[in-house]
This record gives sequence, structure tokens and C-alpha cells, in this order.
Amino acid sequence: MTTASIDGRALVTTSMADFAAQHPGLRYVFFGGKGGVGKTVMAGVEAVHLARSGKRVLLASTNPVHSLSGLLGQDVFGKHTAVEGIDNLWALEIDTRDAIERSKREIRQKIQWFLKFAEISTKADEFVEAATTNPAFEESAMFENMVDLMFADEYDVYVFDTAPTANARRLLGMSKVYGLWVEKMVKSRQEAQTLREALSFTKKKEEDPLMLYLVDFRKRIEHARELLTDPEKTAFFFVTLPEALPIAVIRRFIDWFTDFGIPVGGVVVNMVIDREQAAGGGEFVRNRVAMQDGYLGEIRDTFDGQVRAVVPLFDSDIRGVPMLTRAADALFA
Ligand SMILES: Nc1ncnc2c1ncn2[C@@H]1O[C@H](COP(=O)(O)OP(=O)(O)OP(=O)(O)O)[C@@H](O)[C@H]1O
Ligand SMILES: [Mg+2]
Repeated sequence: MTTASIDGRALVTTSMADFAAQHPGLRYVFFGGKGGVGKTVMAGVEAVHLARSGKRVLLASTNPVHSLSGLLGQDVFGKHTAVEGIDNLWALEIDTRDAIERSKREIRQKIQWFLKFAEISTKADEFVEAATTNPAFEESAMFENMVDLMFADEYDVYVFDTAPTANARRLLGMSKVYGLWVEKMVKSRQEAQTLREALSFTKKKEEDPLMLYLVDFRKRIEHARELLTDPEKTAFFFVTLPEALPIAVIRRFIDWFTDFGIPVGGVVVNMVIDREQAAGGGEFVRNRVAMQDGYLGEIRDTFDGQVRAVVPLFDSDIRGVPMLTRAADALFA
């Protein structure tokens, strides 16, 4: 480890390895943090480590800008692909365009059901357009994809490259509200249904696809919420650098997540300059080390007991299975 302690106080008290030992049933692992801090790399490292321990692991990315193929040096776009050189590890970059198109088709269908049921003779197109042309829609489609993977239940552990921070927070924060909302919707659909039956001459009972959908949707949300708030199954790790902005970002994330009862696995500090290596360096390196030391102190005080690992800054990018294995030894030191 590069920096075991700052001013004589340990930075890491419960390590990544300790945490893993305390959570043998962990199934959904996420890495969040500011852009460029090493989320993709840490997801890869975690996945490699878990696969080496004998679990069947899927490393998945729901990010429209994929980087797993680059990380692994292998094309994993659009299909579950066995990672070469590591048993038990599969990787997948979700085809986001396809996922978004599928979501649009589903929404169109629901809107058509609704218009038909309400006997409104308007074309669905305008509604569909309004419902699907915004960034939140794409984010939701990605989130739905992630939930589909989780529900498919084909692997022991899922490591997601993209922490859907805003969406997880929104979904979980809103799940109670959603629950109430769906409840209300179901009730008013039932009333409408009864009224229609009372008024109709045929008295024929109609299937209400929208209501079936709402009931199913409620179940789905509830199940996702159960999985994503279960501290035995789920952990969100936050990656930071010993720098001001990435620290501020994860501090905010951790506060949100804690408020919503989403399990925080801990903090990984990445790209810390090795002191021994730096000792022979010039003034520039000494200044950088001094700066990092200051922020490491801040990290220790802010995330007391939550820092799981300090990963050194390597002398090259982290790419390919051998390099990931090397970084895994640092993350799980
Ligand atoms: N400890 C490290 N030592 C050296 N290079 C690193 C280290 N960690 C990450 N990198 C490199 O830094 C770059 C950014 O890492 P990565 O792509 O994992 O960040 P990210 O948080 O996923 O970025 P984005 O927000 O764009 O998704 C990559 O080129 C990666 O190889
Ligand atoms: Mg990334």
C-alpha cells in the first residue's frame, strides 16, 4: 500500500478484502464518482478479482459511451462475451440505441392502450414524442436495462461500470411515491372499468392491459428496490482522487445514498503517487505528493472508517487482463 497512514492514523481500517469477507452474499456492485477518476478500471478490477475467487461474474456497462471493450482489449459490444484469460468472467456493453428503441416501442404501445381505453381518438405520436425526447428518458431506459440484467439472475455477481447515481437515487427515493401513485392509478382504473361495465349493454368484461401493466410495474419497482437497498446484496463504491473536486462529488453522493438507504460499500482512493518512487523525484513531484497528503488527510477525516483501499498511480494506463490483475492486488491489498 502506498499510504497506509496519514500523521500516524490509518487511512484504511476496513479494507476491500475485509468488506468482501463480511459480505459473502454481495451480488450487485457499483462504482460511482466524478468523470475520469477510474470507475471503469475499478469495476474491471473488482470483476477480475471476484472471478478469480470462483464466482460467475458479469461486468456490464450501461453507459452510452462504452469503455469496457477498450479496457479488456476485446469486443464485448451487444452480447455477453467470455473474457479471454480469466475463467468465470463475462463482459457486456449494452447496445443503448437498441435499448432506447425498445423502450420507445413499449411506451408507444402503452399510450395507444390508454387512448383506446379512454376512447380518445388522437394519434399517439405526439404523446410518444413528448415522453421520449429528453435525456431523462434515455437514462431511464438504461436503468431499466440494468434492472433486466439483475432480474435475469444468470450470474453470481454483477459489476456495473456505470453507477446510475441519479437514477438509482430517483428510483429509490421515489419508490414510495411511485407505490402510492400506482396504487391510485390502479384504483381509478378499477373504478373506470366498473363504470364502463355498468354502462355497457353487453356486460362483457374487458381486459385492461394498462392496469395489468401498472400492477406489474409496481411489482418490478418494489423488487428492484428490495435488491438495491439490501446491504447484504448491494454495494455502491465511490472512487475519488486525492483532489478537491472528486472528493466534493462523492461526499454529496454518499450523503444522498445514505439518506435513501442505499448501501454504501465505501471509498476507493485512486491514483495516489507512491512515496518511495517519489522520494527521488524533483520539486514538482514533491509538491504533488504534499498536495495529495493534504487531501488524503481530508479524505481520512471526511470518510472515517469508509476508506477501503488506496490504489497507486501506475506508470501507464490500466488496460488488459494482466494489468487488471496487477491492479486487483493493489485494490485488495
Ligand atoms: N491507478 C491508475 N494508474 C494509472 N492510470 C489509471 C489508474 N486508474 C485509472 N487510470 C487511467 O485513467 C483513465 C481514466 O480511467 P477510467 O476510464 O476508469 O475512468 P472513469 O471514471 O471510468 O471515466 P469516465 O467518467 O469517463 O467513465 C484511464 O485511461 C485509465 O487507464
Ligand atoms: Mg468509465
